[in-house]
Amino acid sequence: MGSSLRWRWVLLRFSTSTTHNAAAQLTPLDRLPGIVHVLQMREGKPSQTAQAVAFARAIESLQAPEKRLFEDPYAERFLGRDGLWMVRRLRGRASRRAILYCIDQIGPGLLPYAVARTAFIDEALTAALRRGTPQILILGAGYDTRALRIPGIENALVYEVDHPDTQAFKRTRLGADIEAIRERVRFVGVDFDRQDLGEQLRSAGFRFDSPSFVIWEGVTQYLPADAVDATLRVLATMKRGSEVVLTYMDRALIDGTRSFPGGRRLLFAVRFVGEPFRFGLDPTETAGFLRARGFELLEDIGGEKLSARYFAPLDRTDRATETERLALARLAGPESE
Ligand SMILES: C[S@@+](CC[C@H](N)C(=O)[O-])C[C@H]1O[C@@H](n2cnc3c(N)ncnc32)[C@H](O)[C@@H]1O
Repeated sequence: MGSSLRWRWVLLRFSTSTTHNAAAQLTPLDRLPGIVHVLQMREGKPSQTAQAVAFARAIESLQAPEKRLFEDPYAERFLGRDGLWMVRRLRGRASRRAILYCIDQIGPGLLPYAVARTAFIDEALTAALRRGTPQILILGAGYDTRALRIPGIENALVYEVDHPDTQAFKRTRLGADIEAIRERVRFVGVDFDRQDLGEQLRSAGFRFDSPSFVIWEGVTQYLPADAVDATLRVLATMKRGSEVVLTYMDRALIDGTRSFPGGRRLLFAVRFVGEPFRFGLDPTETAGFLRARGFELLEDIGGEKLSARYFAPLDRTDRATETERLALARLAGPESE
């Protein structure tokens, strides 16, 4: 698609969104979610939602150093042709503002949430590394590049779990950079829906008797409730005191009992790429849900507090969506047994 055509294409979607009537059924924009097209991966069949998160990190990495929450210099490598086209335009000041405005119209608060959640997890991981945690387990790792970019992680062994297709694409795109750290990163191909995570981890050398920090970022919503349960059952057999940071959708979005800005459009977009939301929690029940599975909730945080914590100190007006939340939990019981 030529440059001017692409612009017209993006603006057409934007202009359609401004005529959106909240009371109406799906708008043309809902039916043709522009953000999905922009992020669409044509190279193979790895996760498109993983690519969407990489896109968010690539955008954040373009912020001026004093304004950004983190820098992920590898994120751009996972983008398709259209994503790269957008990133190039994001380097221009005027076009940047217009594109970010369009993105927020299409998915209100999604971009700020994605980057604030990354910042939250980076901090929790850094704290775990400072405590000397020797094992980092990243479930549904997608295009998470923490094994390459977080200082101190070189002293830990990282286990990355995901669908083999996504892992293969990731390894191709990271090339020599990932090969250079292969002795401290293990790729474990697992389908949480169908395979036994515990068995696969054990055969990859994961030590359940060693303190671990687990990252489960942007994944639970794509799983059936019994797969979430099965995964937590496996994690509950880790060394006491191990920590898990996970994200979850507010169940009210999925069951439609509460309306969120852009909520229906988001549900449609993920269905459209074949990765529909299946699992969510009522935030008032999160502590009890985790307690029943052996975990003590340390912190549960949503968009408003994330925005206050991460964007306000940088004088940024970004507002993260309330559709998804983060929970940091510790495996209950004495740390050493
Ligand atoms: C939105 S992406 C998040 C990726 C990464 N955690 C991040 O935040 O950048 C969701 C990830 O979950 C993985 N995933 C979804 N369902 C899965 C399943 N049943 N088994 C294994 N991985 C799954 C996808 O392959 C994808 O990498």
